[in-house]
Amino acid sequence: MRLKNKTVIITGASSGIGRAIAVRFMAEGANIVAVDISADVVEGGRPVIEVLETIGSDAMFLQADIARSDDVERVFKEAQARFGRLDVLVNNAAIHAPSPLAETEEADWDRVMDVNLKGAFLCSREAVRFMLQQDIIDEARGRIVNISSQHGMISAPGDFAYGVSKAGLVYMTKQIAADYAAQNILCNAVAPGKILTGKGGRAVLPETLEYSRSRTPMPRLGTPEDVAKAALFLACNDSTYITGHNLLVDGGWMAA
Ligand SMILES: NC(=O)c1ccc[n+]([C@@H]2O[C@H](COP(=O)([O-])OP(=O)(O)OC[C@H]3O[C@@H](n4cnc5c(N)ncnc54)[C@H](O)[C@@H]3O)[C@@H](O)[C@H]2O)c1
Repeated sequence: MRLKNKTVIITGASSGIGRAIAVRFMAEGANIVAVDISADVVEGGRPVIEVLETIGSDAMFLQADIARSDDVERVFKEAQARFGRLDVLVNNAAIHAPSPLAETEEADWDRVMDVNLKGAFLCSREAVRFMLQQDIIDEARGRIVNISSQHGMISAPGDFAYGVSKAGLVYMTKQIAADYAAQNILCNAVAPGKILTGKGGRAVLPETLEYSRSRTPMPRLGTPEDVAKAALFLACNDSTYITGHNLLVDGGWMAA
């Protein structure tokens, strides 16, 4: 119960990695605010709120587009009204517009940046404003965990805007960490390698999987739970003197 009585907002919590983080954190005793633009589950199955309510009682689902400041403000107001404190924000929601530079439409670039970067900015800004008003508990006034990617540190083949947005998110992690360390607000990132989430399409094309397997030294690709465990470490007071870090969960992709 490493997150007992802690309140956590997770974006993109309906599906994939965000869903696994929500489920794991709930099992660790957290109050969960699951935020997503859609309650639909990309990989199929029951809506995340139904699953969370089988684990504990203090979960809520809020439909919101994190690229919209009015939606983001509503999420934080509702979380504050229900739980009164915010211990952890997990910036997980992200989208792709899979194309190389020459084929990237301006509208696709804008939407990727709006969700992946501006969304993280809007949510982090609300979170820090919220956290600055509260006391330090378990050595932190609050924590932010950003879900970045190995892409953004190295090129994302055919995924130009996404890779650039993830590089920006890693920078944002360091900037927030340095700016708010004095106030005991910790900000870190988890950088997944190739994670099998159950979604279809381009993510599981034979050539995509073959590329990922050829880049991954460990003999398997990642699971959402692999990422959730690392996010948990950075979200609880198992980590107390770590800030501005980007923790690779990539089976060795970036070491090879
Ligand atoms: N799956 C991987 O291999 C992998 C690898 C590296 C990094 N990541 C990162 O992990 C995170 C989760 O990835 P995933 O594979 O689970 O993705 P996913 O597509 O399965 O889930 C993303 C969730 O975000 C939600 N979302 C999208 N736009 C939103 C918006 N504007 N507002 C609110 N919610 C929105 C979607 O509805 C969805 O539920 C992302 O940040 C992604 O970049 C994933």
